[in-house]
Amino acid sequence: MVRVLIVFESRYGNTKRAAESIAEGIEETNGIEVSLRELKDVDLKEIPFYDTILIGSPNHVGGPTRGVRSFIDKLGELRLEGRKYAVFDTYMGGDFEKAVKKMEKRINEKAPGFTRIVAGLSIKVRGIKGPILEDELPKCREFGKNIAIQLNKEREK
Ligand SMILES: Cc1cc2nc3c(=O)[nH]c(=O)nc-3n(C[C@H](O)[C@H](O)[C@H](O)COP(=O)(O)O)c2cc1C
Repeated sequence: MVRVLIVFESRYGNTKRAAESIAEGIEETNGIEVSLRELKDVDLKEIPFYDTILIGSPNHVGGPTRGVRSFIDKLGELRLEGRKYAVFDTYMGGDFEKAVKKMEKRINEKAPGFTRIVAGLSIKVRGIKGPILEDELPKCREFGKNIAIQLNKEREK
């Protein structure tokens, strides 16, 4: 059984909603177990039990939240090898993929034992509190589906 942990931070519930939708997309494929965890509830001791970590952050001032940045640094300190990751963000303005790119860069630098499984996903919300724009939500499910397909491909290697 492949195990995926989705860690997210969410002040107004939009990134949480995206995370839930991604989980639904992954669960369409058999053989993958998904857990959702708000960042504040993450126990670092459980991280080694997962093959893949997905990290979601709202875009705060053109990048991921301070909490997410600190979580990435802690992931690196665990010195895990052969793990996979993917990231996603929610944003309201012209900052498409900005937080995602910064998260990917930080993971590459701080947690080199993690390999990107798919390119990051950026989801647009209406205003600071959201909600997620209607045609954005299906992208989350699709993202989850693609991750599941990739994980199964790797398992067959
Ligand atoms: C302190 C703060 C800073 C923000 N800065 C940006 C920003 O620079 N660019 C942007 O597109 N959205 C920005 N936003 C909007 C957030 O991206 C939006 O509130 C978030 O996606 C909502 O997600 P959440 O409900 O999971 O908290 C900011 C929001 C807050 C609260």
